[in-house]
Amino acid sequence: MVVLTKDFMIRALILGSGGREHALAWKLSQSGLVEDLYILPGNPGTAKCGVNLSGSVHDFQGIRDAIVQHGINLLIIGPEDPLVHGLRDFLESDEATQGIGIIGPGKAGAKLEGSKAFAKEFMQKYGIPTAAYRSFSKGESARASDFLRSLKPPYVLKADGLAAGKGVLIHTDLEMACREAELILEQGKFGEAGNTLVIEEFLEGIEISVFILTDGKGYVMLPEAKDYKRIGEGNTGLNTGGMGTVSPVPFYTEALRNRVEEKIIRPTLSGLESEGIPYLGFIFFGLMICGDDPYVIEYNVRLGDPEAESVLPRVSSDLGDLFLQAARGRLGSSELKISREAAATVMLVSGGYPGSYPTGIEISGLEGVEGSLIFHAGTRQEGSQIKTAGGRVLGVTSLGTDLQEALNKSYQAIERIGFDGRYFRSDIGSDVL
Ligand code: AMP
Ligand code: GLY
Repeated sequence: MVVLTKDFMIRALILGSGGREHALAWKLSQSGLVEDLYILPGNPGTAKCGVNLSGSVHDFQGIRDAIVQHGINLLIIGPEDPLVHGLRDFLESDEATQGIGIIGPGKAGAKLEGSKAFAKEFMQKYGIPTAAYRSFSKGESARASDFLRSLKPPYVLKADGLAAGKGVLIHTDLEMACREAELILEQGKFGEAGNTLVIEEFLEGIEISVFILTDGKGYVMLPEAKDYKRIGEGNTGLNTGGMGTVSPVPFYTEALRNRVEEKIIRPTLSGLESEGIPYLGFIFFGLMICGDDPYVIEYNVRLGDPEAESVLPRVSSDLGDLFLQAARGRLGSSELKISREAAATVMLVSGGYPGSYPTGIEISGLEGVEGSLIFHAGTRQEGSQIKTAGGRVLGVTSLGTDLQEALNKSYQAIERIGFDGRYFRSDIGSDVL
């Protein structure tokens, strides 16, 4: 628990190096309560908001040492991997770091994202709407095939563990689906992550990303977002980490929001409490809206990326203060101020992504962009030059009085930014306008 004195100031460390972490750093750097801001390892964008520290999000001892060396009192864990692998538990068991505030759940809570079988069982136990399912272990591929034969196509297969966003397969052909089940369970297609396989009913509907920040009892709802996951226009082609987002989402009405709170958010928090699982951090509900009814497709235990790049610019409250209230277990009395403006984020990606792509390509025109935010996702600095360093390279976010204006501004800003092979989707948000 973070002990507050009258002149308490935050010395924060954000873990991660993507667009989400740049958006967090950008927002936190505006907090009146933040005295020092570090990002580990960060990127050339976060270097403008605070101090980048070298290291890896997987090196728990290195993170512990950085916390001690820089007197950090608030840690924000960006990506899922260190959460699922128990970074919070590691730091809480060390005398030198156990008193600090940490935004991100321990290993037990992170299972909501780290194990799809656990998440499904949890939802079933607490009556949280989700697709009907069965789970299967190694050696059970014949039973998995029998179950597939009892379902209608398309067939949804999910590796239990973290698989870098590639662990969900959807097939319309029964024989292909049975073959995939065998590849995952018996041939180790997803390695350890596929030791257990979840097969579930296909839900027909429209997806939305909903976020809360919770201290386990109280919570605040962040703005919702819609993510465009496929590489191709009109939602075609391979799945990516996300090609763009918009917020707010016009079909997410007050009535729907209330239903999501009643049927999903509150039962999730009371379920965690009943299980004796403390939870302090974000919960990202990946929902499918079928008719008027929301279903949980997946839980994530962090902010989304690129959702964070649209969501955080719409938060008017002081993020440092919000994190402090969460760390003190006082979120219940906090109110989140949300801007009326709309936000649109368009990702610029490397040619070839989500397949193989080159890196180290010079990016031009970043200085020429005015009135939009540029969040670095996969870039590196070489001397005075910014170069590409990943599949998703930059997220361009704009705010506007409505979605159309926000989108127009982002697409205009993109015109100024160049790199060889640059690709983006030109239809972000067009289906909800
Ligand atoms: P995930 O990796 O869990 O985000 O899943 C990837 C995508 O698969 C989701 O964003 C959905 O578009 C789709 N998906 C997952 N589960 C289902 C389901 N039960 N019914 C329909 N689509 C699904
Ligand atoms: N944009 C989806 C995710 O962060 O998982």
